[in-house]
Amino acid sequence: MIQAVSARAYANIALVKYWGKRESQINSPATPSISLALEALRTETRVERVEGGSDHVMLDGSPADDRTRTRISAYLDLWRELDLLEGAFSVTSANSFPTAAGLASSASGFAALATALAALAKRKINRRELSRLARRGSGSAARSIPGGFAALPAGEDPSAIRICKPEQIPWGMVVAVVDAPLKEIGSTEGMTRSKLSSPYFNAWVRTARHDYRKMRKALCAFDLDQVGAITEANAFAMHACMLATRPSLVYWSRTTLDLVQKVRLWRVDGLHAYATIDAGAHVVFLCPREEMGEVAELAGAVEGVRMAFPSLPAPGARVIGWS
Ligand code: PMV
Repeated sequence: MIQAVSARAYANIALVKYWGKRESQINSPATPSISLALEALRTETRVERVEGGSDHVMLDGSPADDRTRTRISAYLDLWRELDLLEGAFSVTSANSFPTAAGLASSASGFAALATALAALAKRKINRRELSRLARRGSGSAARSIPGGFAALPAGEDPSAIRICKPEQIPWGMVVAVVDAPLKEIGSTEGMTRSKLSSPYFNAWVRTARHDYRKMRKALCAFDLDQVGAITEANAFAMHACMLATRPSLVYWSRTTLDLVQKVRLWRVDGLHAYATIDAGAHVVFLCPREEMGEVAELAGAVEGVRMAFPSLPAPGARVIGWS
């Protein structure tokens, strides 16, 4: 019997966002989403069978905090309840990027964990099922299983499919990490609040469906101007829904606003960069591969930006070792 498995997965940034759950019990999304996986945002996770009743979790070299340990243990419970695994496990996970910075670590984290668990499971799990299982840990993790450009439809129990392999994509992204003063409301809590109280929630869901259809066409044509325009409009629509939530979800900082204004000027100056923002203050720019260096330099020079780094598209999650 295999005792330990290591897996690698990459976080992804959505061009059409997932915000809102259709069914929280099984973490099914109310909105369809499309993302790009990023090489610079990598997680490696080793899972080992252990004696005794309790699971252990190490994150970036230290024991995980209570919240993270409870979340991961609950996720392992799900696999045990589905009769895919038995016994206790030790999970050791490391990110190639600062976890505390609030980048999309749950996507790469749960994708790497699910991939390792699948290799230890009692029966064979195919990629579609693996994406569904990753989604139960974190919605965006479903998209890190196929990698590249990935689409996650809305629906009862959806899995993500790959639209385009990373090597076929002529674009990359620049991640601008912004100094954020406040502790943010997590995505699960935020989505529940928006669904309950944002007067724009239904309009947001309709908009996301429309953007998803348009984005799939624009991506197939590699039409960057169209892809970029939908990306920005979709992120702003999601943040409008968040802002109108009661009490309000304000994820932006002044630097966030500064960056979304600056990118328009960079476009006037001839660059082809487009901004998107998740449930945090950081800004991620989509641009041609050959413009990544210049965009990273421009973004890094903006006041309040802690660092800005480029990333090429990444492949899907995979097992990298076992014993
Ligand atoms: O996967 P979660 O539950 O962390 O939700 C992700 C939410 C956003 O990052 C805001 C959007 C997205 O599609 O990744």
